[in-house]
Amino acid sequence: MSSPLPEGGRLFFALWPDAALQRNLYKVGRTVAPPGGKPMAVHNLHITLAFLGTIGADKRQCMEAQAEAIQLPRFELMLDRTGYWARPQVVWLGCSAVPEPLQVLAARLNGAMAACGLTPESRPYSPHLTVLRKARQGPRQLDIDPVHWAVDDFVLVQSLTLPEGAQYQVVRRWPLAGQL
Ligand code: 2AM
Repeated sequence: MSSPLPEGGRLFFALWPDAALQRNLYKVGRTVAPPGGKPMAVHNLHITLAFLGTIGADKRQCMEAQAEAIQLPRFELMLDRTGYWARPQVVWLGCSAVPEPLQVLAARLNGAMAACGLTPESRPYSPHLTVLRKARQGPRQLDIDPVHWAVDDFVLVQSLTLPEGAQYQVVRRWPLAGQL
């Protein structure tokens, strides 16, 4: 069952590392981060699959039904590089090779957005794990010792903006246990 959401919560689908992996990714993020900026809290580290924004109950239900129908295999993600986007001012960890199931998963969720009456993302999917916001410069290094992530599910997350910063809460989980 999915949990009810407080008013104003933004929703997004994501890959969510377990706590041990979040700690590891946080350490890597601190090592590569340039001076300044606002580090992402360790318990908030994730990779977004599709951003839905604030949506009504009918559209949420539609997206959850679409997610339920997704049958894709688990996959191994190797985070082995960093990057910087100057406009949104974020430093991130990424992968030089995007596994096919990840590409397909993001595409399916984006297609589901259109099917549920939401506006899908028009830019190509570029998986990234943001480690630093309000970054005025890029990372200290471009390559990192690869961090392996065995991805066996994906989640729906609610984001609330609180005075102390964004708070993310996983509200539902779907296993990856199918075939390409
Ligand atoms: P980011 O890490 O590159 O900022 C929750 O806000 C998550 O959804 C973040 O991981 C953010 O990516 C992602 N996201 C994608 N599109 C967004 C949008 N239009 N507004 C806010 N967050 C968005």
